Amino acid sequence: MKPREIKSGIFWVGAVDWDRRLFDALIPLPDGTSYNAYLVKGSEKTALIDSVDPTMSAVLFDHLASLNLDTIDYIIANHAEQDHSGTLPQLLEKYPGAKLVCTPKCKEFLVELLAIPEDRVNTVNDRDTLSLGNRTLEFIYAPWVHWPETMLTYLREEKILFPCDLFGSHLATSDLFLSDEGKGFESAKRYYAEIMMPFHTNIEKHLERLKEYQIDIIAPSHGPLYDKPEFILKAYRSWVFDKPRNIVVLPYISMHGTTRRMVDYLVGALAANGVTVKQFDLTSVDLGKLAMSLVDAGTIVLGAPTMLTGPHPVVAYAAFLANALRPKAKFASIIGSYGWGGRTVEQLTSALSSLKVELLTPVYCKGLPREADFKALDNLAAAIAQKHKENGFT
Ligand code: FEO
Repeated sequence: MKPREIKSGIFWVGAVDWDRRLFDALIPLPDGTSYNAYLVKGSEKTALIDSVDPTMSAVLFDHLASLNLDTIDYIIANHAEQDHSGTLPQLLEKYPGAKLVCTPKCKEFLVELLAIPEDRVNTVNDRDTLSLGNRTLEFIYAPWVHWPETMLTYLREEKILFPCDLFGSHLATSDLFLSDEGKGFESAKRYYAEIMMPFHTNIEKHLERLKEYQIDIIAPSHGPLYDKPEFILKAYRSWVFDKPRNIVVLPYISMHGTTRRMVDYLVGALAANGVTVKQFDLTSVDLGKLAMSLVDAGTIVLGAPTMLTGPHPVVAYAAFLANALRPKAKFASIIGSYGWGGRTVEQLTSALSSLKVELLTPVYCKGLPREADFKALDNLAAAIAQKHKENGFT
């Protein structure tokens, strides 16, 4: 793919990674991803905004060579994570006159993570500006989207926001701007759930602040650009500000079918009470889909058999993940079975300790569930439906 001109003198010079299937050795990438870098030519100076994953540095250098640049004066590093910063050492070598521009915290990270020479870095603070002649870059410090050093860059004259990871999506596409809104929404929501959701209270503040800026184009560091910024801004406002919905997310494991019987029964009882359920068998789950379902869930119910003295480790892993992602859910419960004892409920409850959830009475049975256990599952379903109603989850 060639450089793509966004506006006169402003180019996408990134790399589309169609084949990558895993990020952070954890997150599935069913649709690949991209690492978006941008070149902004001013009447006096030229700036490169972000770089690409080091595995694709050759693509970036080919783009830059094809634009016949005399030099690059500034390299803006919005974020120090290696998928955007990993090519910086090569860029500094290739363009010896270039200065890196980033926040003071980002400078620390770049020196520690990539051994960037300190004297090549100019630090900037919130609202600082950098003139390229007829174009002006403004820097907006936006910590915790999703690292503490991150800034967004705003090109004033063209009203383009370069927000790095914020508003991104892991979606490889040949389209420069988002064209398939259905696919774009799903990819952006998956990305939000996996990367941004743990920081939704910080994002809340940044969204408020961005209201001060007129934005014509959002050019994130992953996935397609938005020439209708309201599409992604509206989606973020909904994920961050809206109440949870009348939805139960139910990840579970069943070794010999007993917990599965309880899950089936509870799902039926919840449906009869008008509650939507998203059920995930953790032996074959796509973690991204599970994370996405947590964005809107009002309640999380874990289905876990007891293994040795505690929960099945795969359910413990799901609980650990849900705890780390910090969804907006307000209620949680645990169902499952045991053979001879164990501390499954206590251990899973403590694994959810970062969530601000009210624990609804768990249902744990010895061996096969009997009448009293099914009655308890009916009561749990009714309690969830009632809590959702009282809290206005629709
Ligand atoms: Fe796309 Fe936080 O790096």
